[in-house]
Amino acid sequence: MNRRTVLAGVLALTTGLTLAGCSSDGEPELKVIGAFMPQPVSDMAAGFLVVRNSGDAADRLTSVTSPLSDNVTIHETRDRTMRMVSSFEVPAGGELDLERGGNHIMFMKLKQQPKPGEKVSLELHFEKAGPITVDVPVKETTHNPKKQ
Ligand code: CU
Repeated sequence: MNRRTVLAGVLALTTGLTLAGCSSDGEPELKVIGAFMPQPVSDMAAGFLVVRNSGDAADRLTSVTSPLSDNVTIHETRDRTMRMVSSFEVPAGGELDLERGGNHIMFMKLKQQPKPGEKVSLELHFEKAGPITVDVPVKETTHNPKKQ
């Protein structure tokens, strides 16, 4: 056992204890709502959703995976330019909004072209909370719930 293995073991133990024990530290309680994917018109697609945190601890969305693509990243949009970020905060008692014109999930090199009425499975990974699986409905390309 090298030093790193020992350290990982200790970390695993500590994490286990935290999960089993006190809730006084606060924990995130996450729920995903309003997810949709506009029908892709190329081999790229974007995904939008809201992560609501009704817990009393903040969390972070760290990655997204999907059978639709092996290249899924999370992007923010600033000054109409998007760029990849390593994580997004989900504030305690608040929301992370991924919406048109703003932050979003980006899918590259799609393995297939999903059509309206179909669903795309996503798995959201968080720093603290366990992964959440979402079946995201595909909408028409111009769909924007904010403008209805
Ligand atoms: Cu993007």
